[in-house]
Amino acid sequence: MSEIAPSPATNRPSTPPDAKIDHAASLRYWNSVPANAHVMLGMLGQYPWYTRIDLRGSKTFLNKVRRLIPDCPTEGKLGRGVDCGAGVGRVTEGLLSQVCTTVDAVEPVEKFTQVMRDSVLKRDGVVGEIYTMGLEDWTPERQYDLIWTQFCVGHLTDRQLVEYFVRCREALTATGVLVVKENQSTDPKGEDMYDDEDSSVTRTDEKFRNLFKESGLSVLASELQLGFPKNFRLLPVRFYALRPV
Ligand SMILES: C[S@@+](CC[C@H](N)C(=O)[O-])C[C@H]1O[C@@H](n2cnc3c(N)ncnc32)[C@H](O)[C@@H]1O
Repeated sequence: MSEIAPSPATNRPSTPPDAKIDHAASLRYWNSVPANAHVMLGMLGQYPWYTRIDLRGSKTFLNKVRRLIPDCPTEGKLGRGVDCGAGVGRVTEGLLSQVCTTVDAVEPVEKFTQVMRDSVLKRDGVVGEIYTMGLEDWTPERQYDLIWTQFCVGHLTDRQLVEYFVRCREALTATGVLVVKENQSTDPKGEDMYDDEDSSVTRTDEKFRNLFKESGLSVLASELQLGFPKNFRLLPVRFYALRPV
């Protein structure tokens, strides 16, 4: 962040962090990452406990959220879900395939979607459509009971993210829910943080809530993912369950 000159009037960065997002650079980065489930969590790939805690937290959160949606069945599987920014399908395998009858996936990196295409879940028909594209280019072709978006929206600019959220809002069934689970900025000045390793932005809670509002989404429930050991000094991870206003 030090290379961004502060604007004297507001003392805020003159270049918004999301203006630095470069999709080609993100794709170069992710294409350089081997296509196996562990590396999906970047430097944490060597810690299998991370994904266990993450998936367990997601299951608990989703169960709570289902009870908050009028007429949403609290038992049994939901109909159709979609794993957005799916990588090789870590969340599809560890969560979505257990809570939805069919799971579509959206992911721009071909070698990652190939892993999903070759999977047992695809062979068994649990994984449905696989879209090899970025979320900024994806327009849902069907209605979804669950749209799961985790650890990937930092690759979209604020504008692209609002447009994506609007498309998701329009693609939810009557009892459908959009879940966003993402790292949170810990910038001491309360700004979003740009990371040039994968050309992404980590947003503040305040920024997320403003973008949801702009997209016509209301926050039904939100909480921090708990249970990660403190000594790893990980970024906080927050869930948002979103429904049309
Ligand atoms: C940290 S991984 C997370 C993968 C998966 N959501 C998970 O939690 O295991 C980030 C993923 O975002 C994908 N990605 C990069 N640019 C994207 C974009 N424009 N739209 C959607 N996903 C993108 C990467 O290819 C990568 O698979």
